[in-house]
Amino acid sequence: MIQKSDAKNQIIGPESSYVLGTTNLELQRLERQHAIWRDDALASWQRAGFAAGQRLLDLGCGPGFASFDLARLVGATGELLALDNSPVYLEYLQQQAQRLQLHQLRSQLFDLATCNSALELISKQGANWDGAWCRWLAMFLPDPNKLVKLVASMLRPGGKLVLHEYVQWDTYALYPRGGAVALFVERCIHHWQSHGGDPHVARRLPALLEAQGLRLLGSRSLMACCTSDQPKAIWLQDFLRSYAPMLASAGLWSSSEQLELAAEISQAQLHPSLWVTPALVEMIWEQP
Ligand SMILES: C[S@@+](CC[C@H](N)C(=O)[O-])C[C@H]1O[C@@H](n2cnc3c(N)ncnc32)[C@H](O)[C@@H]1O
Repeated sequence: MIQKSDAKNQIIGPESSYVLGTTNLELQRLERQHAIWRDDALASWQRAGFAAGQRLLDLGCGPGFASFDLARLVGATGELLALDNSPVYLEYLQQQAQRLQLHQLRSQLFDLATCNSALELISKQGANWDGAWCRWLAMFLPDPNKLVKLVASMLRPGGKLVLHEYVQWDTYALYPRGGAVALFVERCIHHWQSHGGDPHVARRLPALLEAQGLRLLGSRSLMACCTSDQPKAIWLQDFLRSYAPMLASAGLWSSSEQLELAAEISQAQLHPSLWVTPALVEMIWEQP
């Protein structure tokens, strides 16, 4: 079914089950988000040995902001296959890939929650991929083991999987005077869990990947603590602004809570304050 969006950016159709939505506003937030986390992604790709000429996967690519960087990295002799279940995001990705002349970037609509047509995907796109990149996807999947099995079946021996996922989301905080932020975080966790997601999914991934025979080459924390004007604090404030209407429409955020939250954010600009990100971790795995 083709997705349609109305004037208020509300998606009508199957994508509406994805908890963050695929509106233009969310697409723009993903672009700002990638700009802030881009250096960490580039560093992880370098550590994993992603290089020109390789065939790489971007799993849950969204509108493709990381895909464009990965496509430039593999270059014209390489190949980047981007998978997502959002037709809206993939249409944007394809238009941009054409505009940027990234002919090595292809995309395919694929449901990474069920991985139902995995055999069809592999027969069409091939196995023996040199690497896979997966950021902020597993947390939305009711059964991340399906994703793990798919990756294990698509990587060549020596192929690498680079993950950026949260190991503990509720470290997201503002100190001092962060009571409304803490409540917001609690409600987000409840909202995602009620949609089958797991905002602490990284703690479950090592056992699942080990069971598929993959080897953990390394892991590190990407968690940050910073003052209000720094990029990762701005990212946290951006999320509070953009997700409040979603929580409100789910009946999980009231106008009085929103007033308290806005007051806290203003106070944080006026007084020395610490913004702490959710505990994000990098993991690099290898197919033996
Ligand atoms: C938070 S965004 C992250 C996008 C991108 N990985 C990035 O780092 O910018 C999560 C993405 O997962 C995709 N997604 C969620 N559920 C999915 C599913 N069942 N199958 C495929 N993609 C899915 C969404 O459409 C969205 O593009």
